[in-house]
Formats: sequence, structure tokens, C-alpha cells
Amino acid sequence: MTTSSNPPNSVTPDQTSGMWGGRFSEATDAFVAEFTASVQFDQRFYKQDIAGSIAHATMLAKVGVLTEAERDDIIEGLSTIRSEIEAGTFEWRIDLEDVHMNIESRLTQRIGITGKKLHTGRSRNDQVATDIRLYLRDEIDDILKLLERLQKGLLGLAAKNINTIMPGFTHLQTAQPVTFGHHLLAWFEMLVRDSERLQDCRKRVNRLPLGSAALAGTTYPIDRAYTAELLGFEAVCENSLDAVSDRDFAIEFNAAASLIMMHLSRMSEELILWTSAQFKFVNIPDRFCTGSSIMPQKKNPDVPELIRGKSGRVFGDLISLLTLMKGQPLAYNKDNQEDKEPLFDAIDTVRGSLMAFADMIPALVPNIEIMREAALRGFSTATDLADYLVKKGVAFRDAHEIVGKAVALGVAEEKDLSELTLEQLQQFSDLITADVFDKALTLEASVNARDHIGGTSPKQVEAAIARAHKRLEQLYA
Ligand code: ARG
Repeated sequence: MTTSSNPPNSVTPDQTSGMWGGRFSEATDAFVAEFTASVQFDQRFYKQDIAGSIAHATMLAKVGVLTEAERDDIIEGLSTIRSEIEAGTFEWRIDLEDVHMNIESRLTQRIGITGKKLHTGRSRNDQVATDIRLYLRDEIDDILKLLERLQKGLLGLAAKNINTIMPGFTHLQTAQPVTFGHHLLAWFEMLVRDSERLQDCRKRVNRLPLGSAALAGTTYPIDRAYTAELLGFEAVCENSLDAVSDRDFAIEFNAAASLIMMHLSRMSEELILWTSAQFKFVNIPDRFCTGSSIMPQKKNPDVPELIRGKSGRVFGDLISLLTLMKGQPLAYNKDNQEDKEPLFDAIDTVRGSLMAFADMIPALVPNIEIMREAALRGFSTATDLADYLVKKGVAFRDAHEIVGKAVALGVAEEKDLSELTLEQLQQFSDLITADVFDKALTLEASVNARDHIGGTSPKQVEAAIARAHKRLEQLYA
């Protein structure tokens, strides 16, 4: 390697090309070194990189490629490096490109020639694929814990609001009364599917690429099943070309994360509406809100607003990864270094959003009276009156027509159906008798009547909550 031909702004060859300098005649340009480096962001999974290397060295010793003494030196060296990183004394060098070469180079500096043997039968291609999978697996487990905490919070709030009645909406117009508990259980269901999706994704994340080496496998007598077992992987990736190149597991995670954010964003939208002066259905405690620097009366629902906004970046992260992958021929391409930031951003955003929601949900205070009054407005029991007539033999379409006329009268008189007199109602059908007020026109009658699995009646909501607790136990067993 000659240094005389190096352009003035290149880093010295022993710095940059130590890992591959053999075939290079000049050092990497300083800008290129920085442009192609990933250590700024991939140092985040140093722990997984070290765990993967320890497993690899242990396997190499088992099959006789390393001696036990060499293995022990490597493991001790790597453990020390982990402590250095955690103590903040480790010097990350951009000229060493990525987390893998930073750690390996330090290992050799510490333990000498044995450090150079660690990379036997391995490539950064299978190493990085392994690291991301290990890292993502850990993050999925943390996210699942947050989901569980949020789901328990929802069940707790629902249990307190089995009998709280609010208007249910379609088209954001008052439709039929529902119980607040029932509404919260709708949110709960969304999160059940989100959790199932993540757990399903985890199965495909949890496969070992190591042993694929650069792309074709390796000439050493490796024992991949053993490495997989050491690292807690369910199985090995079956094809070396596929293992080093595809990032579909990360894309799948980002898709699952996008759906979580989509759900949180919908919930946020409702919270934002409900806390407005026009609704006043719920109160979010001050600690989750901020004020305005100019309007003294303001208390803004910042946390739900931010989460609604942050959903966009996670959708963007998903599209980034899909686009990153779609044009790549087999096997590894440097493009894949770009998989990390969109994945990390999705992880961080979904974690933060779930944490905020898990803290905020149990602290919500519903305004029970205001919700009830809102449900009394907008003719929410009109369908119940139609059903009442159907039960007395009227065909549903005719009943619909009759009730429509009664509603028109209510609109004209500015009265709810329950506030019209029996005589007024009877002008539309003589099948309407005094029992209509108890049987059809109260909010309680309306919700109680929806008494089947999945329905809004307090009895059903109570049973659904009991089942939900059991389902959570199974989901997080
Ligand atoms: N930093 C690289 C990445 O994130 C590691 C793999 C590099 N492999 C290579 N052949 N240049 O993908």
C-alpha cells in the first residue's frame, strides 16, 4: 500500500483500510469514509453485536476452529469492550466505518492476534443481519410489554365505565347510544390485533443468518444450529443468499408499527375531539397538556396531537424500507446499510407513543353527565323506536318511515323523541303505547337491548372485560 498517491484529505491507510487494505493503492477519501460509515447510528446495537460475536467464537471453538483458550480470550476481550462502551470510555472511530469493525479492531488492540481470528467463517453481511434481528427481537419484546400495559389500562377504565352512556357516532353524527366501556373495548380490540401481528412478525425475525458469511456460506465446519441455540433463535435461515440480503422482517415490523400508529392516531383524534370545549366528554390531566403563550384559556391536548402527527413518520419509514429493498439483486448490497435509521425511527416512535398512551389512558376522567346529555341529543334512540314497532308487527321499512316523521316533529319542536307526548307519537302509529318510553326511548333501554356478544349493553361489556383479561393472559403467556 502506497501512501504517496493519497489525496491530501484522505485518512491514513492504516486507519481506514486496515480491514481490507490489501488490494487498495490509496486510502479512502475522508468524505467518502464519512459518507459510507454507519457507526454514527449502528453503535446502537453494540450489545447484540458482542453477543453475536461471543456465540460465533463459542461455536468456532466447539467445532475446533478456535482453541478453548482463544475462545476465552475473545469472550473476555469482548466483555471488557462492552463495559468500556457502557462506561462511555470507548472511542468510536468513523474511519472504522461501523459498529462491527470498531469492536473488532478494539478487540485486536486489546488481545492481539487472537482478535483477528474472530472473523473466521463470518462476514459483516451475515453479522449485521444477525445483529439487527437480535436487536429487533429485543425491541419487539419491549413494545409488547408496553402494549400489554396500555391494554390493561383500557380494561381498567372500561370497567369503571360499564354504565357510562355516550353517543355512538357514524359519519361523526349522533347514531345510537353506546356505553363508554364498549367504546374503550373497541380500542382494546385494535391493540389485540396489533399485538398478534407483532408476535407473528417476531417468529420470522427470530431466525439466524450467521453462517451465511458473505453470501455463499463458508468452508469451515460450522455448526449453525448450535449458534442459533446460543442466541435463542428459533431456527437458522435456510438460504445463505437470502439470509444476508432480505430485510423483509424489518419491513414487516414497520408495517406492524404503522398499524399500531394508525390505531393510536385514531384514538388520539377522538381524544382531541372529546377534550374540545364543544364535546367536553373527557378531561386529560394537566400533566399531559400544555398551554398557549398567547391565549391564557388554552389547554392543548399535545400528547394525542403529537402522536397523530408522528404516525406519518412511521408510515414514511415503512415506505423507505420497501423502496430500499425493491430494486436489489441478490445478495448483499450496501443499500442495506440504509435499513437501520427507518427501522430505529419506527421503533423509537412507536415506543414513545405507546408509553405516552399507557400513562395517559388510566388518568382520563370522563364527564359522565355531559356524555349522557350529548347522547340525549340527536335522536339517538330513533332506531329503538323503529325496532319497537317492528316487534309489534310493522315491517322495518315502514317503521323507518314512521319514525322519520316523528323525528321531523321533534326537530320542529326542538324536542327529543322521549320529550314528545304519547298523543304526539300516536299520530304516527296507533301501535305506540305508553310502554314506549320505558321500552324504547330511554338511553338505558337502548343500550340494554343490545344484549349479545359484541353488543354495547353493560351486561355484555362486563362479560367482554372478563374475557379480555383471560385473552391477555394467553396473548402474553
Ligand atoms: N455497515 C454495513 C451495513 O450496515 C455492514 C455490512 C457491510 N458489508 C459490506 N459488504 N460492506 O450493512
